[in-house]
Amino acid sequence: MEPAIEVTKLSFSYKDGTRALDRCSVTVERGTKVAILGPNGSGKSTLLLHFNGIHLVQQGTVRVLGKTVNQHNEQWLRSKVGLVFQDPDDQIFSGTVWEDVAFGPVNQGLRGEELEAKVRQALRFVNMEQYGHKVPYHLSYGQKKRVAIAGVLAMDPDIIVLDEPVAFLDPAGKRALFELLNRLNRQGKTIVTATHDVDLAARWADKVIILCRGRVLTQGEPALLTDKTIVQEAELELPTVTEIFAPFPDLCQPKTPVTVEEARSIIKQLL
Ligand SMILES: Nc1ncnc2c1ncn2[C@@H]1O[C@H](COP(=O)(O)OP(=O)(O)OP(=O)(O)O)[C@@H](O)[C@H]1O
Ligand SMILES: [Mg+2]
Repeated sequence: MEPAIEVTKLSFSYKDGTRALDRCSVTVERGTKVAILGPNGSGKSTLLLHFNGIHLVQQGTVRVLGKTVNQHNEQWLRSKVGLVFQDPDDQIFSGTVWEDVAFGPVNQGLRGEELEAKVRQALRFVNMEQYGHKVPYHLSYGQKKRVAIAGVLAMDPDIIVLDEPVAFLDPAGKRALFELLNRLNRQGKTIVTATHDVDLAARWADKVIILCRGRVLTQGEPALLTDKTIVQEAELELPTVTEIFAPFPDLCQPKTPVTVEEARSIIKQLL
């Protein structure tokens, strides 16, 4: 089966000449959870904005579910890939939370009870059911982020792409979001997130893609995040668990722990 997303030698420059992506090639297999990591300005958002056609391909190719993305399949693309923007203020524009979440499904032709049910379910997913009548402008940033996520969920896309989804979410909101993303993944959705959070990526992702100055530094298993050279080059940090075990290489056999569960099993053996 064709991958969910396949990017080949993608380069992109903004109007002012900033080269944000430089011959990036990445693959996201269907049904997987992928984290894109990299420091500020490394090109994460620019890459994600190609996945649902907000940025048009300048050089290279982007294939989604086997189709090459171009100006002619934009509508199809938006129905398949739901993108939650880094800044919810770029995404939310309706007069009420309910209208905002309903915007996508209305465009898809949903009306009446079906529409009601879809919006209610999406708001329930992000724990914002009580806020339907609210003016989005009056919400906290984290609440806006949840509404933006609900708006994407309501469209039921195959691929869900989230740019910095946990920024501004409280710990309970973070946990709830990742439980939700895992649930959606178990239902077969492909999930891509951009984040600076190495702990989260190590714990959650099937695959990590590390960007640095517009280039793909490396991509593969989350265990890549235990490699100090890679992490330093990408201006990231080692996962906390890895950092704790780093001075004790003898304990890190056969592999260095990246998750709390892996660390616990090492400690259990020691005891
Ligand atoms: N509209 C724009 N016009 C000009 N340059 C831009 C624009 N948007 C982004 N850039 C530049 O493109 C590069 C990549 O930016 P991008 O927003 O993709 O990075 P990022 O990895 O998402 O960063 P962050 O972690 O801060 O969100 C940066 O050098 C940035 O300054
Ligand atoms: Mg960004």
